[in-house]
Amino acid sequence: GKVTVSLIKADVGGIPGHSTVHPKLKEKASECLQEAKENGLLIDYRVLHVGDDLQLLMSHGKGIDSEEIHKLAWETFEAATKIAKELKLHGAGQDLLSDAFSGNIKGMGPGIAEMEFTERGSETLVAFMMDKTEPGSFNFPIYKIFADPFNTAGLIIDPLLIDGFIFEVWNIKERKRIFLKCPEDLYLLLSLIGAKSKYVIKRVFPKDSSPLPKDEPVAVISTEKLFFIAEKYVGKDDPVALVRAQSGLPALGEVLEPFSVPYLVSGWMRGSHNGPLMPVSFKDAQCTRFDGPPRVIAAGFQISHGNFIGPIDLFDDLAFDLSRKKALELADYIRLQGPFEPHRLPPEEMEYTTLPGVLKRLETRFEELE
Ligand code: F6R
Ligand code: MG
Repeated sequence: GKVTVSLIKADVGGIPGHSTVHPKLKEKASECLQEAKENGLLIDYRVLHVGDDLQLLMSHGKGIDSEEIHKLAWETFEAATKIAKELKLHGAGQDLLSDAFSGNIKGMGPGIAEMEFTERGSETLVAFMMDKTEPGSFNFPIYKIFADPFNTAGLIIDPLLIDGFIFEVWNIKERKRIFLKCPEDLYLLLSLIGAKSKYVIKRVFPKDSSPLPKDEPVAVISTEKLFFIAEKYVGKDDPVALVRAQSGLPALGEVLEPFSVPYLVSGWMRGSHNGPLMPVSFKDAQCTRFDGPPRVIAAGFQISHGNFIGPIDLFDDLAFDLSRKKALELADYIRLQGPFEPHRLPPEEMEYTTLPGVLKRLETRFEELE
């Protein structure tokens, strides 16, 4: 049968500052989701966190965009916010941009990645969660996983992968989308997704030649941009993604491989800086140095009749030690540039931070040149 996996996240308060999530918020979230499991709404759930983001991973039979599931997530974040307010956690309730739930959690602040699919004989799933960065930060690894033969050996070696995949790319500024097939549209795909603040890979689908159902995604990424919703700076839109693996899809190790490069992403301090993305264990999923550096965790599962078997903390592994070390060296290097670009983001992206409030003060002091 079909199962839906929904990963819905929100920052409803940090301790201290924007560094991590208080265990009481996770306990409260688990209580709410446990109740929903007992009532039969959820098949299973896990509560996780990365940095200051509370992550609700849920499985159910309701399909994507289910009002019941979105309402459950919203009410869970509200319950956690209540505790965050009592404890006076920093930024309590910050991602809940609306006062009342109205049918769908999209556009209300939380980030969402969800997909419905037919559970295979063996269903391997990885949930990636990033803090202090933006949805476009998944463009690089998702491209590598599903289109780059230097990353994914299966694209060359496995007859089930050799035809490639279809990418659904969103222009998140103009709310348009395009479907591109790889390898044939590979250069076109890169011409868009290299501009990661504008074009974001939303989903990846199998091709006609694949034995998998064509309308069921094999990967999905959250694309919410908080600043387009709130029209003022309310923190970065720390993204999440779900990626299925093995048996005609990239292998687990091919899914993890792109993260061995601490590539540069935008976010970090005040959502205003470029810096290396560091793969970390759950235990190190807190943001400290210069409110970062931006971090990613990977929770690995086998799905069994909709149940989450796991998580395995995939970056809690010495195989990623050198990537972390390189990330820290890059962090040292780029920090030396202080407020100068390209450490600081370019002006178009700074528009969505608190900088315009500062520049406003200078408006009357500018003089026209001839
Ligand atoms: C970045 C982030 C932090 C805050 C910074 C200032 O996404 O969340 O770097 O921007 O700590 O936070 P406030 O304005 O809450 O003091
Ligand atoms: Mg965050």
